[in-house]
Amino acid sequence: MAPHPSTRLLSLVPLVPLLLLLALPHAPLTHAMCECGYRTPTLDIFTDALVVPSFGSVDLDAAPDFFPSAWSRDPVGDETVGTVMEKGNAVVDGQGVLGLSVRKDKKGGRVPGGEVMSTRKDISFGTFRIVMQTSAVPGSLASVSLTVDPTSSISLLLPSRLSPQALLTASMNPPQTDALGNPSTKSSQSLDVGGDPSAGWHEYRIDWLPTRTDILVDGRLLTSLTPPTTFNSSGGSVFALSHFGPGSTVSGTPPTIDATFSVLSVRLFFNSSDKARNDAYVSRCNSATNAGKDRRVCDTDSVVGTILSANDAASSGGGDQGIPSE
Ligand SMILES: *[C@@H]1O[C@H](CO)[C@@H](O)[C@H](O)[C@H]1NC(C)=O
Ligand SMILES: *[C@@H]1O[C@H](CO)[C@@H](O)[C@H](O)[C@H]1NC(C)=O
Repeated sequence: MAPHPSTRLLSLVPLVPLLLLLALPHAPLTHAMCECGYRTPTLDIFTDALVVPSFGSVDLDAAPDFFPSAWSRDPVGDETVGTVMEKGNAVVDGQGVLGLSVRKDKKGGRVPGGEVMSTRKDISFGTFRIVMQTSAVPGSLASVSLTVDPTSSISLLLPSRLSPQALLTASMNPPQTDALGNPSTKSSQSLDVGGDPSAGWHEYRIDWLPTRTDILVDGRLLTSLTPPTTFNSSGGSVFALSHFGPGSTVSGTPPTIDATFSVLSVRLFFNSSDKARNDAYVSRCNSATNAGKDRRVCDTDSVVGTILSANDAASSGGGDQGIPSE
């Protein structure tokens, strides 16, 4: 005879406290789970992370981690028109997509653009992964950059106008020059991304390491740049996503209708140039003095949640970082 339904139900009851006990030890672990950093599939370890699966969780006005730029400048190099970055040109839509707009109507003779920068200025080496889509309106440039100082930077530049000019320019600045004074391909290259960057979401990735900078699109390695001898790696950098229409050889004539560069997600894993942060990391994670704690290294690919400074393990004791428990 089958057990009465209520008997079956009762027999489950003693299990409940046991399940709770099993579940409880995991709860505190979630908080500081990644406090000893993030490990890439190629086994590089970076101490810090800013992960934004959707900009819906980012308050650009409060700006603890990312903020919209406001600055303007005259043309530089072969640009024919100045740029004015306006806060109102960086907007998160209802789907959590960050839109950076270039406006057709000039302001004071300059083309209005949109930009979002990191508040962190101590970003030093790391892997930077951005899922984005350029505008289909000809005449603008979308850029992903890491700027160490006015002369040293790493940038990816994508013009919105169509091929054959729609090549990605990857460079480490100031570019190395060859014996004839031309930029060497070691530090600056134009690359075919193998498709239309305005036609869908693609992941653009910069892996900045001491001896090389790898550029990948959708996981495919496009090139490896060698740092120019004049590139200053010792300071921290600022991360920025920018959209502008400078009327340069690469961008072409500025857009005649408003153009939007869309950013779906940003995943940044990096080290810090800040001595206090690094000292704190060592005292938290030194395996000699903290036996067993090196387990609190997370794999970059398993980070599915949002990581902002509010749940930065290093600064506040952590938060729910959306890491599946082991
Ligand atoms: C980043 O920091 C970690 C922890 O200090 C260190 O093990 C790693 O070598 C650093 N990576 C780079 C590229 O400097
Ligand atoms: C490189 O950067 C460091 C840290 O910001 C700075 O102290 C140093 O002066 C820079 N070196 C050069 C050659 O600019």
